[in-house]
Amino acid sequence: MSEIRRIAVNTGGGDAPGLNAVIRAIVLTAEQYGWEVHGVLNSYDGLFAEDGVVRLDRRAVAGITHLGGTILGTTNKGNPSRWPVRAEDGSVTYEDRTQQVVDEFARREIDAVIAIGGDGSLGIAQQLAEKGLQVVGVPKTIDNDLAATNLTFGFTTAVETATDAIGKLHSTAEAHERVMVVELMGRTTGWISLYAGVAGTADVILIPEIPYDMESICRKIEARYTNGPKFAIVVVAEGAYAKGSEPLFKQTAGGQKRLGGMARLVSDEIHERTGRETRELVLGHLQRGGGPNAYDRLLALRFGTAAARLVAAGQFGTMVALDLSQVLAVPLEDAVAKTKVVPLDSDVVETAQSLGICLGD
Ligand code: F6P
Repeated sequence: MSEIRRIAVNTGGGDAPGLNAVIRAIVLTAEQYGWEVHGVLNSYDGLFAEDGVVRLDRRAVAGITHLGGTILGTTNKGNPSRWPVRAEDGSVTYEDRTQQVVDEFARREIDAVIAIGGDGSLGIAQQLAEKGLQVVGVPKTIDNDLAATNLTFGFTTAVETATDAIGKLHSTAEAHERVMVVELMGRTTGWISLYAGVAGTADVILIPEIPYDMESICRKIEARYTNGPKFAIVVVAEGAYAKGSEPLFKQTAGGQKRLGGMARLVSDEIHERTGRETRELVLGHLQRGGGPNAYDRLLALRFGTAAARLVAAGQFGTMVALDLSQVLAVPLEDAVAKTKVVPLDSDVVETAQSLGICLGD
């Protein structure tokens, strides 16, 4: 094992509450080992930009544990294995720059890298590890969809934000006897929607893991107007879809394809079928905003310090992971091998069913 003198850290993909806590934990632990820490700005982009790599010491990370966002900046577009190169005529081609990234770290005499990211960023980290970079991953995403860890930091804060929003919808829904449909993030998984929906006492929760049947949703809503309080709260994951159909994408101004539009679709369909007054909202990036809750702060600090300890132990090509209540190391390739979806036999699904919440099936 080569001696470590200097390490780098970066944050990639969508931001999640807790990123700054991980950075601080890495820096403080690294200082105990006597290492220098450098932060690469905006995922790997900073490696090729002037002033794109900054020195991080305990002063640089003071007072950031509770802050949202990331002091290093991030991007979910900077994939070095598909680097966009724009020609003079405006056309774009893509080239694999992973070797250049590895070489650039070597040129800067960086002995190891701690990459904080979701499946995309950790997939890149895995490719860099295969090219010889000494790398340790830290799992981040509000979606909680990474395999090989029970939890990613940022998830419980997003669930809290969403639960709070669902809670607030109750009073306005009740006052107007309306059906309120709220769309939550989560990409192709329903973790945020299921957890926030159950905690926020929604009446209907639609997740990608259970393609829904509109008949069953409308039956549930009608039963509420007939027997119970004359309003309903429907939570729909952005990646949910009806039986026999497919996830809905919206075309954005930048020409990107992004999941979205489910709240509108479900709301309109409920109105057409039941005649009830409906309103929809998309909670969107509020779910990623703000500082981490206490649980995510602690998890982020545990992950960050553990990642630095893995570097010290020479356990490269791994990711820190939460296994029940313990933080341990798992191979990076296991973490990015598949998406972690909500298991249909999970007790949270059962909890929803026992509470009489309609899951659209
Ligand atoms: O992966 C986190 C996430 O917030 C997803 O839940 C969502 O689909 C996506 O990122 C949104 O990405 P962007 O920030 O590019 O809009």
